[in-house]
Amino acid sequence: MRILILGGSQFLGRAIAAHACAAGHDVTCAARGLAGPIAPGARFVRIDRDVADGLAPLTGATFDAVVDVSRHPGQVRRAVAALKRPNVHWTFVSTISVYADNRIPGQRADTAPLREPAAEDLEHSTDAIYGAAKVACEQAVGGDAFICRAGLIAGPEDPTGRFAYWPARLARGGEVLAPGSPDDAVQFIDVRDLAQWIVHAAEVRLTGIYDGIGPVRSRGEFMAECASALNASCTFTWVDRAFLEAHDVRRWAGPRSLPIWLPLPDFAGFLTRDTSPAREAGLTSRPPGNTARDTLHWLHVSGGPVVGLTGDEEKDVLAAWHAERVT
Ligand SMILES: NC(=O)c1ccc[n+]([C@@H]2O[C@H](COP(=O)([O-])OP(=O)(O)OC[C@H]3O[C@@H](n4cnc5c(N)ncnc54)[C@H](OP(=O)(O)O)[C@@H]3O)[C@@H](O)[C@H]2O)c1
Repeated sequence: MRILILGGSQFLGRAIAAHACAAGHDVTCAARGLAGPIAPGARFVRIDRDVADGLAPLTGATFDAVVDVSRHPGQVRRAVAALKRPNVHWTFVSTISVYADNRIPGQRADTAPLREPAAEDLEHSTDAIYGAAKVACEQAVGGDAFICRAGLIAGPEDPTGRFAYWPARLARGGEVLAPGSPDDAVQFIDVRDLAQWIVHAAEVRLTGIYDGIGPVRSRGEFMAECASALNASCTFTWVDRAFLEAHDVRRWAGPRSLPIWLPLPDFAGFLTRDTSPAREAGLTSRPPGNTARDTLHWLHVSGGPVVGLTGDEEKDVLAAWHAERVT
């Protein structure tokens, strides 16, 4: 199969290219060449999707399948106009941030209500309108494509440093500040599993809308499995939302955060999506310990980013928690 990846020079796009090459496909990655190198074995074509004739270097080339990872409606509209043909299988990588309701657990891709789309003629997305812009991108792609709404993507080469916090922290061992309760839900997908499924979808010409995430696990199970895979000796001190927020421990990502933690019940639906349709359509998920081990290895060899509380910040919060329990 001749596969064109619009992107392919970082994280998920590069993993899709690597997997497609390993599966014996003829792979072209088209990007500006700024984000990073493409996967070995893939062909690189330099394009700029932000200008009107920026896809011209692809003129005349034919593909059996196209995968687009863009978040910018202008880029998606131009790609659809230039490259989408009835016999070309089209994958658009979207996000679970398209959903309107983050509170209700167990929602499914085919029935959950969406946010209002961003303005029809929007060129560029920003963090503030990421979900709405992806809705607009999906609408520009149309109903005959494979729309893969990814959840949190984890694993080697993750430029966000979010998931990496946990293997990096657990590997140090000792008393670990853990957010919420061990029964709270965690849901993510290893980048390599998602990449494999996206290539599989092109091979079998899967269409329709799916959430691309792994199974729901409890946070306690997730932490214990990762610690065990890393041979780390950890004890977990579970600290409630009110205390964390009172001590300026932030949600999800960034400085002073406990990554992948979202306050409940506000986000009870975000990490509890029903992904049985995706599993029935071929998505598989490796054990979390495997993702944790490989992410830690990648951190060691690459010095890749880690976000979240520093060791000293974590110690201060734990000390405050224990002090409050004594008094
Ligand atoms: N990370 C997560 O946890 C998460 C969660 C849910 C959904 N998602 C979705 O998953 C996908 C992740 O994709 P990704 O990891 O491959 O990263 P990405 O940040 O979406 O990659 C963007 C790609 O597009 C290329 N690009 C950007 N601007 C361009 C331009 N003007 N012209 C041509 N190419 C351009 C970049 O390469 P150059 O800069 O070299 O041009 C890069 O290869 C995205 O769709 C994201 O929304 C991610």
